[in-house]
Amino acid sequence: MKLRYFSHSAFQITTDSGKVILIDPFITGNPTSPVKADEITTDYIILTHGHGDHLGDSFTIAKKKECLFICVNELANYCASNGFRAHNMHIGGGYNFDFGRIKFTIAHHGSKTPDEQYTGEASGVLITADGKTVYHTGDTGLFYDMKLIGEMNKIDYMLLPIGDNFTMGIDDAVKAVELANPDVAIPMHYNTFPIIEADPNEFKMQVEDMGKKSIVMEYGEEIQL
Ligand code: NI
Ligand code: MN
Repeated sequence: MKLRYFSHSAFQITTDSGKVILIDPFITGNPTSPVKADEITTDYIILTHGHGDHLGDSFTIAKKKECLFICVNELANYCASNGFRAHNMHIGGGYNFDFGRIKFTIAHHGSKTPDEQYTGEASGVLITADGKTVYHTGDTGLFYDMKLIGEMNKIDYMLLPIGDNFTMGIDDAVKAVELANPDVAIPMHYNTFPIIEADPNEFKMQVEDMGKKSIVMEYGEEIQL
């Protein structure tokens, strides 16, 4: 599969069979996004929580081509109540879709939509397809159960926030990599706004000092996993 980064926490996975999965597509209003929302179509949208910088352009994109939302129950119901197809899941639960397996994890964060709807617990997500597992942590503070997540799953790529203030900063994110033990750590949720300024190369250096791999993805870059 391929992984493309749109900046902030927005990623696009394209599986070997050609299925497109968007995660937290915050494009419009994101000053670092290299694309416009109307350039994106998808088969699936995974949302980690309801905040505006994660729900983003989901509904605009979903109106162009019918797709399936995959998120925790309350957020899935919110998508359904806006007229979209949704698959309701919840933290700790996994499900096999045609492209692969999705399992939701805990995240320590809030979840409310821009129109003030409470949308359940914030989550992280494990995405397994084409023999690889990607762990997108969502917005979260550091938690020790990342060690358990890493013990129970062989994580190939861990996408995790480093921007501080709302989420882990660099020091906590480096510890998160140590706990979850992925093959490769990819920083996200930084430099979108001044309040979450962080140097991804500082994170990368600290991860490499632990003897682990890190890739700082350029905005718009796509890599083969
Ligand atoms: Ni958030
Ligand atoms: Mn956020």
